Amino acid sequence: MNEALEQIKHIIDDFIGEFKNPFLQEMYMQLGCGKMLRSKLVINIAGVNEKSLKLCAIIELIQLASLLHDDVIDEAMIRRGKDSLNAIYGNKNAIMLGDALYSKAYYHLNDFLPAIAKSLSNAVCELSSGEIFDVFLAKSFNDSINQYIQMIEQKTASLIASSAECAAILCGLDARAYAYYGKCLGIAFQIIDDILDITQCQEVLGKPSLNDYKEGKTTLPYLYLFDDLALNEREKLISLHSKELTQEEKEWILQQMHKHRSIAKSQEKAKFYAKEALSLLPKPYNPKLEEIITSMIERSF
Ligand code: FPP
Ligand code: MG
Repeated sequence: MNEALEQIKHIIDDFIGEFKNPFLQEMYMQLGCGKMLRSKLVINIAGVNEKSLKLCAIIELIQLASLLHDDVIDEAMIRRGKDSLNAIYGNKNAIMLGDALYSKAYYHLNDFLPAIAKSLSNAVCELSSGEIFDVFLAKSFNDSINQYIQMIEQKTASLIASSAECAAILCGLDARAYAYYGKCLGIAFQIIDDILDITQCQEVLGKPSLNDYKEGKTTLPYLYLFDDLALNEREKLISLHSKELTQEEKEWILQQMHKHRSIAKSQEKAKFYAKEALSLLPKPYNPKLEEIITSMIERSF
């Protein structure tokens, strides 16, 4: 697997080299390497071959582009354990590099079957729409679990679902079953991400903990907590929404979450989606697809 991931990185480097632009190259070199979850999925479904590796490189470029834009939108200063590109070069350059990476991915996507090109372009429509959904939901206190799940399905699960679907199309497997696997895995992935924002410390996160709530995002643990609080406590929770929290306020939220098992309930929800992910896969499927889910659920960053 590691060798395949190295090969994918080389393909991405070659794609970037095609720009023949030293300034673009310089900015690209500042980007950290991620977990490459989507590539791992593709490789474990479609195997290692020229087409699958190129597909992974395209998907990683789309993922990188969306994170460059996301960090501008979220004003995030850290990404993948390093200073974010917007922190180093400013918002304008981060957006332009995102546009370049995204366009390069589309250029190479032309070499694939229309079913693959359509699946991935549709995923980019979905994730862009999901990001808008996320930003608008955060403008006021969202108390709808349904809307939260819909939003993360678009923002995060769409590209993971499409990665699994495209890999299945590449090797003639049941595309719908693999797309469903990717969708459920993606939803579980984002729930875990949102839990870690609350449970992990600043050193691990690269940003203060409970940052999502300050950004206005009522992620799943907050939604469960809201449901379980008495009316006066709900008012207190809402009054803390979208504001810089004091240590005392953070502790109140954490205590209430502990009392009402909000984190545990969110983990159970992620596990529900993790189990659901495997439910449609025709057997026997690659056991690695189960391992990917387990390590994603158990991760601490
Ligand atoms: C991370 O969410 C962001 C996404 C999963 C998708 C972002 C998508 C866009 C900005 C649209 C991009 C458009 C194109 C054309 C590529 P998060 O902020 O919850 O996660 P984080 O903690 O990793 O920042
Ligand atoms: Mg973000």
